[in-house]
Amino acid sequence: MTDEFSGLVAIVTGGASGIGAASAELLASNGAIVIVADTQERSGPGRYVQHDVASEESWKTLLADVLAREGRLDIMVNNAGVAGGPGDIETTTVENWQKVHAINADGVFLGCKYAIEGMKQTGPDKTRSKGSIVNVSSVAALIGSAGPTAYTASKGAVRLLSKSVALYCAEKKYGIRCNSVHPGGVDTAIFNRLWQMVGPEHGKAMIGGRPPHRPYGRAQRTG
Ligand SMILES: NC(=O)c1ccc[n+]([C@@H]2O[C@H](COP(=O)([O-])OP(=O)(O)OC[C@H]3O[C@@H](n4cnc5c(N)ncnc54)[C@H](O)[C@@H]3O)[C@@H](O)[C@H]2O)c1
Repeated sequence: MTDEFSGLVAIVTGGASGIGAASAELLASNGAIVIVADTQERSGPGRYVQHDVASEESWKTLLADVLAREGRLDIMVNNAGVAGGPGDIETTTVENWQKVHAINADGVFLGCKYAIEGMKQTGPDKTRSKGSIVNVSSVAALIGSAGPTAYTASKGAVRLLSKSVALYCAEKKYGIRCNSVHPGGVDTAIFNRLWQMVGPEHGKAMIGGRPPHRPYGRAQRTG
């Protein structure tokens, strides 16, 4: 526990479960004021706000609420995501593709857009935010896999969106960084449906990111 993030305001989307919940706990334990923005509620550190990352209206409401209540925005963790089932290129429906992209790709696009808007806000009693945007992509965006097609493609979009946002903010001299992170397999609720449909072993092989003989990781900090 440190005071590294003392006085900084962080939004964690999808912070009610798994990697997002662990991120929210880590930020809070190091001094950040945390807003957990998720479609499902959770008790834990931080202030919970009902939020759908796929909805621009929801982003406008969330940003206005955070700026009114917490007064600033310094850290945005665009973490919310869905697996979207096991569909490959032949079996993925347009409906499934669009649903997965609405959350995993559009949601991160909107998260970056409104993060920059919030981080740029300064006032007489407020130092300029050296903002940091962290987009949770996946190892699937680095190595690709035969499926799930919509999930893999959506995570690839997050990877290059993050580079584009980082370069744009540097060009504008905003002092806002943007990075993507690419976890391998982490044991969370996200793949429950996939495991039920195809079995955990086949499912884990499908989505890749698990070196042979290495177990799935856990979201919690271990040291
Ligand atoms: N678990 C893994 O192996 C793994 C690997 C690589 C990347 N990831 C990525 O990590 C991120 C977190 O996943 P996780 O494994 O912790 O899963 P999880 O299912 O435990 O958590 C995802 C959270 O996102 C929320 N969410 C879903 N749709 C939302 C929406 N429209 N608006 C707001 N919140 C929404 C869910 O309610 C849930 O709380 C995801 O982007 C996922 O793709 C996970």
